[in-house]
Amino acid sequence: MSTDRDTVRSYDLVAAEYAAEAAAMPEWVATEIDAFVTELGGSGRVLEIGSGGGRDALELEKRGISVRRTDVSKGFVELLRERGFEADLLDPLTDDLADPERPDKPYDGIWACACLIHIAREDFGTVLGRLADATRTGSRLHASVRDGDGEDVTIHGSAAAPRRYVETYWRESALRSALTDAGWIVSDVRRYIGRPDDPWLSVRASRA
Ligand SMILES: C[S@@+](CC[C@H](N)C(=O)[O-])C[C@H]1O[C@@H](n2cnc3c(N)ncnc32)[C@H](O)[C@@H]1O
Repeated sequence: MSTDRDTVRSYDLVAAEYAAEAAAMPEWVATEIDAFVTELGGSGRVLEIGSGGGRDALELEKRGISVRRTDVSKGFVELLRERGFEADLLDPLTDDLADPERPDKPYDGIWACACLIHIAREDFGTVLGRLADATRTGSRLHASVRDGDGEDVTIHGSAAAPRRYVETYWRESALRSALTDAGWIVSDVRRYIGRPDDPWLSVRASRA
């Protein structure tokens, strides 16, 4: 498979709107940030996948973590740059993940909140493996996906400017297997409810 370009274009169209809607930190994400920072010992260099409007990177930096902001959507990358942050256009499925600031040094962690939902099931293991390869032994991973079966396509916007998002749902056992196969040791998979009827699986893992 490959990256769904309709999904990426859809985020491009609404980057500023999405960033405003997602600006408030959800309680469950705050809990995961606390755990992630504690596991990192309050320092380290982290690759963020799907930074979106940059909410989580700001919080991680406040806690002493150095974050490389990236997104596959140029709408988000441009927005972050306009706001004074460095950000890179990066597709975790195909792009070189090495850190431009220190190309020979692997990351201490990966933060991928609510973004791997847009990776096709058949590409998921490849992405998880590439993330593992980009990090040092013992590095930490946060990744969150929607809990459920199958795939979903949602269409928003007007007929003249439709937006189409493709998402892949995961069940815990398959998610754990994909992570283990890709070189991650899963310490916890927590269940959270985003909005009503919007269940998430949130992974805490370390690199084997
Ligand atoms: C629901 S938003 C989450 C944004 C941010 N992490 C947050 O929690 O607010 C999904 C993010 O995934 C990114 N995305 C879309 N397709 C992707 C793909 N194939 N691989 C990685 N990220 C993708 C989007 O650009 C967007 O930043």
